[in-house]
Amino acid sequence: MKNIVIFASGTGSNFQAIVDAVEDEKIKASVCGLLVNNAKAYAVKRAKKHGIPHTVLNPRDFTDKEQYAQIMLQQLVQWKPDLIVLAGYLLKVPEKVVNTYAGNIINIHPSLLPKYSGKGFYGINVHQAVLESGDDETGCTVHVVDNIYDNGPIISQVRVPVHKSDKAGDISERVRKKELEILPKIVASIINTSD
Ligand code: GRF
Repeated sequence: MKNIVIFASGTGSNFQAIVDAVEDEKIKASVCGLLVNNAKAYAVKRAKKHGIPHTVLNPRDFTDKEQYAQIMLQQLVQWKPDLIVLAGYLLKVPEKVVNTYAGNIINIHPSLLPKYSGKGFYGINVHQAVLESGDDETGCTVHVVDNIYDNGPIISQVRVPVHKSDKAGDISERVRKKELEILPKIVASIINTSD
C-alpha cells in the first residue's frame, strides 16, 4: 500500500477531497499523516475525524532552522510517504526536505501558473490580483515542488472563466470547485500508475 502525506495550513478542503477519494478507493493508498504549521487549522479536525495522525511544525518555534528541517524529516521518515501533497500549505518546504523527496512532492495553486505565483500570492490575494488585471480567465495548477515557490514543472491546469460581474469571492469559489476535482484525480493518476 502506498503512503500519502498531506501538508496543510488552513481549512483543509483539499485535504478532505483526497481523504474522500482514498476512502472511495479512487486513490489506492493510505493517508498516513497530516502536517500543519498551525494547530488551529481546521484540517486537524478533519484528520482527527478520519483517524489520521497529525503533527504541528512551525518554523517560528525554532531558532535553528536546520533543526526545524531535521524534525520535519524525522517525522516524514516515520510516515514513509511515497507522495507528499501540499494541499493549501502556505509555507516554503525546507530545501533539505524538498531534496530528500525530490519529484515526489506536489502542490496545488489557485492560479494558472506562472501567473500570480510566489510569496504573497495565496488565498483571496490571488483572485483579487486576477480581478485587478482584467484577465478573462483563471484557474488552478498542480505542479511538482522544487526549491522556488510555485515554480516546479506543471502537471495539470484547469481553466475557469472570469466574468465582468465577479468579485474575488466568486472567482475563489469557482476555482476551489475545480481544485477539489483536479487534486484527487492527479494524486490518483500518480499513485495508481506508479510501481
Ligand atoms: C487552495 O486554494 C489552494 O490552492 C491553496 O490554498 C487553498 C487551500 O484551501 N494553495 P483548503 O485549505 O484546501 O481549503
